[in-house]
Amino acid sequence: MSTAYSAVGWNRQKKIYDGWIAAFCISYLALFISLTLLFNSEATFETILIRSTSTLAVLLLHIILSIGPLTRLNKKFMPLLYNRRHLGVTMFSFSAVHGIFGIIQFHSLSNTNPLLSLFLSNTNYGSIPAFPFQALGFFALIIFFLMAITSHDFWLHNLSPIVWKTLHMFVYAAYILVVMHVMLGVIQYEKNPVFVLILFTGSASLIILHLLAGLKERKIDKMKFKLQEDGFVYVCEADEIEDSRAKIFCIDQERIAVYRHEQKLYAIHNVCKHQGGPLGEGKIVDGCITCPWHGYQYLPHNGQSPPPFKERVSTYDVRVNHNKVWLNPIAFAEGTEREGALL
Ligand code: HEM
Ligand code: FES
Repeated sequence: MSTAYSAVGWNRQKKIYDGWIAAFCISYLALFISLTLLFNSEATFETILIRSTSTLAVLLLHIILSIGPLTRLNKKFMPLLYNRRHLGVTMFSFSAVHGIFGIIQFHSLSNTNPLLSLFLSNTNYGSIPAFPFQALGFFALIIFFLMAITSHDFWLHNLSPIVWKTLHMFVYAAYILVVMHVMLGVIQYEKNPVFVLILFTGSASLIILHLLAGLKERKIDKMKFKLQEDGFVYVCEADEIEDSRAKIFCIDQERIAVYRHEQKLYAIHNVCKHQGGPLGEGKIVDGCITCPWHGYQYLPHNGQSPPPFKERVSTYDVRVNHNKVWLNPIAFAEGTEREGALL
C-alpha cells in the first residue's frame, strides 16, 4: 500500500492478467493481418500497421470502459478490474504506434514540421465531411499519454486521489474525441459502413452498461430508513449479511459497509482510500476487510490498515437487537476503534 515506492509490485495474479492481455493482443493482430492480406492483398505494411493498432486500441478502450459498470452489475467481473491500468497502458501503447505512424506516413514528407502539418495541412475546421479528423486523434492521444504516465500508485499518492481520479475521468473526453476522430475520418476515406456500425454498437453498449450500473447504485442511494432509535436507524435483519461479507447502506448521502466477522458486526465507511473502491463489495481475508479493486486492507474494528500501512477509514456504531441491525450514521474519526455488535 502506501509505505514506499516500488516500480511494479508483480505477483502471480498480475502476471496471469498480463499474460492474457498479451495473448489477446497478439491473437487480434495476427487475425487482423491475415484477414487484410487475404481480402486486400494490395494493402501496404504502413496501412496494415496503422489500421491494426488503431482498431486494437479502440477495442481495448471499449473493454476498459466496460469493466467499471460490469463489476458494479456483477461481482464475477471483479478480477478484470484488479489490473485495469495495465490494460490502459497497453491501449495507450497501441494508439501511440498508430498515431506516430499516422504522422510519419501522412505528414513527414513535406517541408512543414510534421506536428504543424497535422493541424495545418487541412484547415477545413468548419466542414463536417472534410474535417481535419487527425487533430482529434492527437488530443485523445495526449490524454491517454497523461493517464499512462500517471498510472502508477506513486502518482496517485503525490497528486492526491481526488486530482488523480479527476485526471483519469478525462478518459471519457478522450473516448468522445476518438469516436469523432474515427467517424469523421471514416466518412472521408471508407465507403464500407461496417466500421461506423461496429463503433456505433460499441458506443451504444457502453452507454447502456453505464446506465444500468447507475440505476443499480441509485437503488442503494434511495433506500429509505424509517425506524429510528436514539440516533440509530434500522437497516436490515442480521442474517441478511453473509459471514465475512458486508451489506452497503446509504444514509444521509454517506455509504456505509456493515461487515459480519467472527460472530460480530462492524461498520466502516464504504470508500477505499486507494481509489475509492467500494469496500462493502469486498470480503474479509486474513481477518481484514479487503477492497475488491486492488486489495487494500482494513481492520474491521478500527478501519485502520494493518501495520506498516497507514490508511484509515471512518468507523460507525452498530447494534443488534432481536436479530435486527441498527446503525448510527454519525461517523467516528478515521481509524477510531469500535467494539462492534455481538450476534
Ligand atoms: C496523433 C494522433 C493520431 C493520428 C495522427 C491519427 C491518424 C489517423 C489516420 C491518418 C487515420 C486514417 C488511416 C487510414 O487511412 O487508414 C486514422 C484512423 C483511425 N484512427 Fe487515428 N490517429 C491518431 C490517434 C488515434 C487514437 C488515439 C485512436 C484510438 C485510440 C485512433 C483510432 C483510429 C481508428 C480506429 C481509425 C480507423 C481505422 C484506421 O483506418 O486505422 N487514432 N487515424
Ligand atoms: S480502490 Fe484500490 S484497493 Fe481499494
